[in-house]
Amino acid sequence: MADACIEWYDRNARDLPWRVPGTSAWAVLVSEVMLQQTPVVRVEPAWRSWLTRWPTPAALAADTPAEAIRMWGRLGYPRRAMRLHACAVALVERHGGEVPDDLDALLALPGIGTYTARAVATFAYGRRHPVVDTNVRRVVARAVNGLPDAGPTTTAADLVETAALLPADDARAARASIAFMELGALLCVARSPRCADCPLVARCAWRAAGAVPAQGPSRRP
Ligand code: ADE
Repeated sequence: MADACIEWYDRNARDLPWRVPGTSAWAVLVSEVMLQQTPVVRVEPAWRSWLTRWPTPAALAADTPAEAIRMWGRLGYPRRAMRLHACAVALVERHGGEVPDDLDALLALPGIGTYTARAVATFAYGRRHPVVDTNVRRVVARAVNGLPDAGPTTTAADLVETAALLPADDARAARASIAFMELGALLCVARSPRCADCPLVARCAWRAAGAVPAQGPSRRP
């Protein structure tokens, strides 16, 4: 499953700036915090402005939380700007201004939850950790479990299940993680999934079961 998704990703993924090789771990971290509650099209310009102004954690830590909130602009949920500022301060104090590559060190940072820590370790450092968001949960629920959709939150069982799908090699596991996510964002979407274009169509358990939607049209009386 991972191989087919990686091959599809290599040909179809969006060209997003935080995916460019060589992007700093700090820039990846900022992108993941912004992307959690804001669509990609709105994040792109905000991410560029933020990193032009504060290219490193030290630069942000030297500025005020109020400036961070001002720069956040209209991305929504401005508490995220405060959390990024607190995270930058902690990175300077604990890690010499570097973003650590270790999952536990990332998890210990203020404002960095389990999703963000795993995403940074994986996408910035090429580590092998399951990175599970709504899109990944839906891909696994359908392709592996034959269900129309996943539960509303990521459970420990989701992490174990997704980890089992990752190739053994670290760098390839990281590519599989981003590929699962992109598949869920572009094809295996909640409503009207584009199964005809999906690299997993021949092996998808949900398709095999008839791809019955979660909330189909109500039955005629
Ligand atoms: N690339 C890496 N992480 C991403 C995310 N959360 N959303 C969209 N593209 C991403």
